[in-house]
Amino acid sequence: MSTHGHHHDHHHGRHAHAGHGSHDGLAELLELDAAVLHDYHAGIVAWVASQGPARTIADLGAGTGAGTLQLLARFDAATVTAVDSDDAMLHRLAANAAARGLGERVRTLRADLDAGWPAGLDGLDLIWAANSMHHMADPARVLRDIGAALAPEGRLALSELDAFPRFLPEGAAGGIEERCHAAMARRREQDMPYMGADWSALLGGAGLKVESERRFEVTMEPPLPEAATRYAHASLSRTREGLADLLTTDDLATLDDLLGDGERSVLRRDDLSIRAARTVWIARPTA
Ligand SMILES: C[S@@+](CC[C@H](N)C(=O)[O-])C[C@H]1O[C@@H](n2cnc3c(N)ncnc32)[C@H](O)[C@@H]1O
Repeated sequence: MSTHGHHHDHHHGRHAHAGHGSHDGLAELLELDAAVLHDYHAGIVAWVASQGPARTIADLGAGTGAGTLQLLARFDAATVTAVDSDDAMLHRLAANAAARGLGERVRTLRADLDAGWPAGLDGLDLIWAANSMHHMADPARVLRDIGAALAPEGRLALSELDAFPRFLPEGAAGGIEERCHAAMARRREQDMPYMGADWSALLGGAGLKVESERRFEVTMEPPLPEAATRYAHASLSRTREGLADLLTTDDLATLDDLLGDGERSVLRRDDLSIRAARTVWIARPTA
């Protein structure tokens, strides 16, 4: 789920995800996210599948394949074109699909959607875009291209995080998580204006009719399983990297304690939870 972004957008020289770090860190985080929140993602894809069948699917900004793999599982006669601007992501995605015996039903396509719509990617029954559209420099243009690339009965499933996930109990460690979220919000205002945008309005403006909208919440109560604790650690590490220039020295020291292997480490805490939410819109072309 939580689909954190990379610290620096290669295409535009801006921070591509509010307060997050390195590329490998993102891939690792996406894979932990897919594993830890597998059932939650499956629930979203099941809801999308309940809206109608699909044989040709594109996953835009597919990352390491969390969505692609779930789509292949749910739409068992479908092929998925996984589109991403990042070769390393697609490489991992292809390996993840092959490891599950699904390689033959996946095509990877390296394309920067900010540079234009990929030739030949059209007539699609379903376009899935999870936490990727807010990375686009001009999502309105990409949404118009999506409308043109859908088959007449095709649909877009757009999924966007409402906020980054939270892990610590409220106010824990002197309220560090709250201050990190406030700093991430400040960074997003500059670097990622479309995160938390009015997607209904953007979809309508692009000639797409919203048929359904649903908010999905995830709450995992303590004690978390081991992989979920690692997910919390990976997420906070990226926060630490991405916010190094925005937090006080004291806050960075607190984060270092949480991320270290001492007794204050998140890896030793038994009070972590996961609290996250995303909204999914299903939209169809009107023309
Ligand atoms: C936060 S990740 C989400 C990955 C995946 N959809 C998921 O939910 O796990 C965003 C992905 O969008 C890709 N991306 C960002 N800007 C892009 C662009 N202009 N064109 C294509 N892909 C892009 C990134 O490389 C990254 O893999």
